[in-house]
Amino acid sequence: MKNNSLVSIYDYSKEELLELLEDARHFEENPNQDLLAGKVVATLFFEPSTRTRLSFETAINRLGGRVIGFSDAATSSSSKGETLHDTIMMVSNYADLIIMRHYLEGAARYASEFSPVPIVNAGDGANQHPSQTMLDLYSIYKTQGTLDNLTITMVGDLKYGRTVHSLLMAMYYFKPRFNFVACNELQMPVEYKNFCDKHGIEYHEYTDFSEEVINETDILYMTRVQRERFTDLMEYERVKNLYTLRNSMLAGSKDNLRILHPLPRVNEIAYDVDSNPKAYYFKQAQNGLYARQAIICKVLGIKVNR
Ligand code: CP
Repeated sequence: MKNNSLVSIYDYSKEELLELLEDARHFEENPNQDLLAGKVVATLFFEPSTRTRLSFETAINRLGGRVIGFSDAATSSSSKGETLHDTIMMVSNYADLIIMRHYLEGAARYASEFSPVPIVNAGDGANQHPSQTMLDLYSIYKTQGTLDNLTITMVGDLKYGRTVHSLLMAMYYFKPRFNFVACNELQMPVEYKNFCDKHGIEYHEYTDFSEEVINETDILYMTRVQRERFTDLMEYERVKNLYTLRNSMLAGSKDNLRILHPLPRVNEIAYDVDSNPKAYYFKQAQNGLYARQAIICKVLGIKVNR
């Protein structure tokens, strides 16, 4: 990848992913270090964010770097018609690294092709969200003690949910078994099912969110229906509340089951699940800080002394 950019989780080998997990563990134990002294990092968010932007910015601050950028593209000159190309060329004059979220699929890849500084994809449309995947992998590893041979059930918006697309690709190295639970309108896209077929990854598709599926699951990955991706809001209204996890549905689940959600949640997880020890989504978001510290150091070529 040009400039060490992180565009897709598939840019990293298994060994690189495992190294990043070790770095994340190191940062969890030592979050405050001076590794980014003298560095300026730009966070350009053309789409809304709470966790991704704030955890990246916290990661930079805790490593002694400085942050510039915008959280609302309406306050940038893109609102005057400046192209993404020109925005990236300008910001690369000021920053050592650009972390970018954009509503267009492929925007991060495009930027990485000409940017003089590395680009980290903080989500591009319905395509990929690789830094989320690093914190998901770290969360899975911490809670299961392994990444290998797990049954992962993905529920909700598998069509537009970029987090499930990235996670599916990353798990390819670890012999997963997937359950895809989605309504007909929001099924896992064919290219990701082809990816599974090509790499011998077992998957099963369901429209029913049954306790039978939950009870065989190690990681239950709930997702929000991505309202912002629908061109037909009537269709969104039809599908938005089809799958809600309630505490009563977990009665027969495995002891090691953990419930993940990239957040924000809308109606996918009832509040009575929050007090169940198997609920891990808030801790998962905290893990984002450490995973993103690891990513920033890797793309900037900064050695982490574990
Ligand atoms: N998980 C995630 O990407 O959250 P934000 O949209 O709040 O960044």
